[in-house]
Amino acid sequence: MKLVVYFLVFVAIVIQFIRPDFKNPAVDENVALNADPHVMSVLKTSCYDCHSNETKYPWYQNVAPVSWIMSDHIQRGRKALDFSNWANIDPKVKLERLQRATQVINNDMMPKHDYLLMHKNAVLNKDKKQTLEKFFDSQILELGGSTSTLKKFNI
Ligand code: HEC
Repeated sequence: MKLVVYFLVFVAIVIQFIRPDFKNPAVDENVALNADPHVMSVLKTSCYDCHSNETKYPWYQNVAPVSWIMSDHIQRGRKALDFSNWANIDPKVKLERLQRATQVINNDMMPKHDYLLMHKNAVLNKDKKQTLEKFFDSQILELGGSTSTLKKFNI
C-alpha cells in the first residue's frame, strides 16, 4: 500500500515536468475583432481565454494534468474560432462558425463546463446570450448569410 502511494506521488511530480507552451501569439489590431464595447466585454469574459490570443492564464496553468487539458482547449479553441484573427478567417468558414455559435451558446455547450467551474463570471445569462446572438446575427448578415437557422437544437 505504502509503495502505491509513493509511486503515485512520484508520478504526480514527474508529470509536472511536461509543460505545455503557454505563450500567447502577438495580437495584430488590424485583423483582430473590434466590435461594440458591450459585445467585446461579453466575448472577452466568456470566450477569449480559448478563442483569441489574449488568453488569461490562472495560477493552475502550471499544474499538470490540468495544464494539459487547458492547453488542448486553447489550441483547439483558437483553431475553431479565433477572434484575434477575425479579418483573416475565410468568409465561408466564418459564416458556418457564426451560425454554430448561436446554437452552442443556447445549448450551454460554450463556454465549456469544466472552464465555468473555475470562471463563474464567464457564465452566460439570458442578457449576455442575447447580446452575443445579436452580434453573431449582424455578422452573418454582413457576410450575406441567413440568420434563420435553428437557434437551438436537441442533443
Ligand atoms: C475553455 C475553453 C473554451 C471557452 C471558454 C469557449 N470555447 Fe468555444 N470551443 C472550445 C474548443 C476546444 C472548441 C473546439 C471544439 C470542441 O472541442 O468542442 C470550441 C469550438 C467552438 C465553436 C465551433 C463549434 C462547432 O461545432 O463548429 C464555436 C462556434 C465556439 N466554440 C464558440 C464559443 C463562444 C461563443 C464562446 C463564448 C461564449 C466559447 N466558445 C467559449 C473551447 C472553448
